[in-house]
Amino acid sequence: MSQSDQIVVALSKGRIFKETLPLLASVGIEPLEDPDKSRKLILETSDPSVRLLILRASDVPTYVQHGAADIGVAGKDVLMEHGGEGLFELVDLKIAQCKLMVAGKPGALDRAGRIRVATKYTRSAESYFADRGRQIELIKLYGSMELAPLVDLGDCIVDVVDTGNTLRANGLEPLEHIAEISSRLIVNRAAQKLKHARVSDFVERVEQYLEGK
Ligand code: ADP
Ligand code: PRP
Ligand code: MG
Repeated sequence: MSQSDQIVVALSKGRIFKETLPLLASVGIEPLEDPDKSRKLILETSDPSVRLLILRASDVPTYVQHGAADIGVAGKDVLMEHGGEGLFELVDLKIAQCKLMVAGKPGALDRAGRIRVATKYTRSAESYFADRGRQIELIKLYGSMELAPLVDLGDCIVDVVDTGNTLRANGLEPLEHIAEISSRLIVNRAAQKLKHARVSDFVERVEQYLEGK
């Protein structure tokens, strides 16, 4: 099989992998191993021309940008942080849906002066508050953002919210809506040209599946 017939798809474990499976199955691709059981990071599939890479969610755009993967599935939140260099965002898969929000204790934003924002979404937080002319101090975190305001690490957080259960369980409230989030099919810019036939066939089959849903 020549290189141009091969397709490498970058996914993350957990909800994106689970929600992408039916979509891959619909285009005839089934992983030969379960990433929750195997320690392997490259999974062969029922289609010998397709391999899956299992990555951290926030690394998916980087692998696709540099062509280490031809195609990827990444949350819009992750894409906004990455910036989208070197890739095309082709299809809204409407999976892993949630909202990017500012959250905190009630009234957390009702203060004069700089607001301290604890988040892993530093780029989105910066542009959201800058657009509103509000001065912030960023506190970079990598997870469990809901903890920060409870121990006075920041006045508020920027994080994704789905059911609101995590906020409620920690005495926090959603305060401001930043963006609707869902996962997108992304494609390396060069692969879109060099592997055009293979990539566009894959994308078309995914689109057909979504239209028929
Ligand atoms: P991570 O390890 O980076 O937290 P996740 O698998 O939890 O990875 O999240 C992957 C993507 O799924 C996120 O980038 C976001 O777009 C979306 N997501 C995150 N949390 C939720 C949630 N609670 N409900 C629905 N979608 C979510
Ligand atoms: C995500 C996110 C929030 C929570 C929101 O965490 O970081 O903490 O989901 O969902 P909810 O509004 O339905 O409670 P996730 O479950 O992905 O855990 P992790 O990223 O910290 O592993
Ligand atoms: Mg998560």
